[in-house]
Amino acid sequence: MAKVTYRPAELDDAELAADLMTASYPALAQDPVTTRLRWEQPRRGFLYGRFIAEMNGKPVAFLGWVHGPWNEVEDGHCEVEVWLERSALERDVLIEMFTWIGDRAEAERSRLLMAYCAEDEAEMLGALDALAYRRERIERVWELDLKAHGPRLAGEAAEARDRMAAAGIEWTTLAGWHDPDRIRKLHELNERTVEDVPHTLTIVREAFDDFEKRIVAPDRPHDRFWIALDGDRPVAMSYLKFPPVRGPVWTGYTCTDPEYRGRGLARAIKLQTLAQAIELGVPVVGTANDGENAPILHINETLGYQRRPGFVEHHKRVTKRQDA
Ligand SMILES: CC(C)(COP(=O)(O)OP(=O)(O)OC[C@H]1O[C@@H](n2cnc3c(N)ncnc32)[C@H](O)[C@@H]1OP(=O)(O)O)[C@@H](O)C(=O)NCCC(=O)NCCS
Repeated sequence: MAKVTYRPAELDDAELAADLMTASYPALAQDPVTTRLRWEQPRRGFLYGRFIAEMNGKPVAFLGWVHGPWNEVEDGHCEVEVWLERSALERDVLIEMFTWIGDRAEAERSRLLMAYCAEDEAEMLGALDALAYRRERIERVWELDLKAHGPRLAGEAAEARDRMAAAGIEWTTLAGWHDPDRIRKLHELNERTVEDVPHTLTIVREAFDDFEKRIVAPDRPHDRFWIALDGDRPVAMSYLKFPPVRGPVWTGYTCTDPEYRGRGLARAIKLQTLAQAIELGVPVVGTANDGENAPILHINETLGYQRRPGFVEHHKRVTKRQDA
């Protein structure tokens, strides 16, 4: 195995990192513009370590760790990631890299390391298993062929609008909604619902400032961000992310206020995002959901989404280092 060297990644490496992530898992390309933006806008209280790995003087992988503010992360978890380009893909190289980034994450006083990989990444699964990471959850990943299902979905979107109108629910986009308090209301809806996504690890509350920045990112235009309204109260939302340079068009988040669930609103508002994508000529859209999230899995199945390999969330408990 050629010797691996590591260097910290600077902001100007964001594009290189997006290229390496894409070369690591080409089926889901990473966008360089949104990658850089994420690096420019750290979440409040979060800490990040980012590195480029080189072999024979050539960049071959992007590695990272990230954790929230320890006083808000009860379980002490820290995410670690290794994106090794396929031309250099070897289980032993992955083991070396996960060990290296895991050591750095442990030095951050992490108590639990979390790593994702896709279900069809045999070498990654093997490396994580060899390092005693355990499979904890599955994120189901789906794709919807809008060319094949376009006319049916457009019809269902129209029917859903009729049903919402009959129930006194309005629908709008963020661009068309002029409530001066709209971003704060959406932040509240986001925070009220996100804990209901099945999960194992602590979810850190998103600061309003961070939500405000995230919602104006260039991959989520406000005329494509859909909201269901009961009067001036947002009761459901759904949006697709449209990466500016490359990568799949993908659902960002769909949710319904707990008091309004089971009335078809998530399905109705998600359908509006799909109908618009069809009009825009998008051929395929993706989405990912926790394997235990029964209502959204049911919605996606009935909308015609097809499963593709999902993501495996791995956990490894580590001992808190006294010297850190
Ligand atoms: C998932 C969520 C968006 C669903 O919202 P909703 O407005 O209640 O959804 P809908 O009423 O449109 O549809 C729910 C469907 O799931 C079905 N369903 C509900 N519980 C179910 C279960 N345990 N097993 C199978 N199907 C179930 C309902 O019967 C309904 O299907 P139907 O219309 O064919 O009868 C909502 O629960 C939520 O906000 N959860 C938290 C955020 C989240 O998990 N978002 C999605 C993943 S990112």
